[in-house]
Amino acid sequence: MLKGRNLIKPDDFTVEELDSILELGMQIKENPEKYNKVCEGKLIATLFYEPSTRTRLSFEAAMNRLGGRVIGFSDPSASSTSKGESLEDTMKIVSNYVDIIAMRHFISGSANQAAQACEVPFINAGDGENQHPTQTLTDLLTIKYYKSSLEKMTIGLCGDLKYGRTVHSLAKAMSRYSGIKFVFISPDELKMPDNVKEDIGNTEYIETKSLEDAIPELDVLYMTRIQKERFEDIDQYNRLKDTYILDLEKMDLAKEDMLVLHPLPRVNEIAVEVDQDPRAKYFEQAQCGMYVRMALIMKLLGL
Ligand code: NCD
Repeated sequence: MLKGRNLIKPDDFTVEELDSILELGMQIKENPEKYNKVCEGKLIATLFYEPSTRTRLSFEAAMNRLGGRVIGFSDPSASSTSKGESLEDTMKIVSNYVDIIAMRHFISGSANQAAQACEVPFINAGDGENQHPTQTLTDLLTIKYYKSSLEKMTIGLCGDLKYGRTVHSLAKAMSRYSGIKFVFISPDELKMPDNVKEDIGNTEYIETKSLEDAIPELDVLYMTRIQKERFEDIDQYNRLKDTYILDLEKMDLAKEDMLVLHPLPRVNEIAVEVDQDPRAKYFEQAQCGMYVRMALIMKLLGL
C-alpha cells in the first residue's frame, strides 16, 4: 500500500511498488482524460527552495490534470523562510493546508528532515546533490515505454556523476532489476561517489573517461549537465564544463536503437543537431515525467 507514504529516495518503495506506479503512469499516458477528475477537492503544495522548470511545472500540471489544485512557492525569499522560519515549522504549517507536499531544496538530506515534520505524504523533488526520485520514476517510465522492459541492458551514465542527483537515484533504482550493467562515464574529478557504488550492490559497472569508447555497447545513454551551482571552484567548472558533447558523429558509433536520455536542462552536452535523431528521447522523457507524477500523486493519496 502506497497510501500515506513518503518518497525520499527510490528504495523507499519496493520494486513491485515502483512497478505499480509505472503501470499506472503508462495507463494515464495512454488515456489521460480518464483521470481528469480523480483528485477533485485535493490540494498539493509545491515548495521549491531551488530553481526548477520541469519538476515544479510537471507536478503542477499533473495535479491540475487530475482535477486537483495547487499552492506553493518557487521563490523562498517571498516566504517566511526569509524571516528565519525553520523547515520543520514550514512543513507543519503547510501540512494543515494541503493533502500532499512536493519539496525541492538545495541542502542534501533536507528532504528527510522535512518529511519527519510533515503530516501528509511528502515527495522529495530533489535535495541538493543527494537524490531525485521523481526524476527516476520519469526515467524508468521512459525506458520501459521505449524498451518494453527494465531488465538486461547496458546503461551509460555520462557527465557529472559526482554532483548529479538524478544519476545517484537512477543507478540505485536500476540496480534492483536483473541483467543491468552500468558504464559510468566521467572525468576523474566527477566520478560516481563511493556511497552510490556501495548502494548498487553486486550490479556490474565499469568506469571510463571516454564516451567514444563506451557508446557502441550502450542500450541507454543518460547524459547529464555539469552542475555548475555545486562547484566550490569556478575554474574547475570552467575546465570541465565541455568535457562531453554528444553530436551526430558520436551517435554514428552507437547502436541503432540506443536511447538518448537527459533529465534536462541541457547546456552544451548534447548538440542541438542530435534532437532530430529518432534515438533522442529527452523531450518525450519530460512528458513522461508529468504522467508518472500523476500516477505517484494518485498512489500516495490512495486514489
Ligand atoms: C535535474 C535536477 O534538478 O537535478 N533537473 C530536473 O529535475 N529535470 C537535472 C539538472 O538540474 O541538471
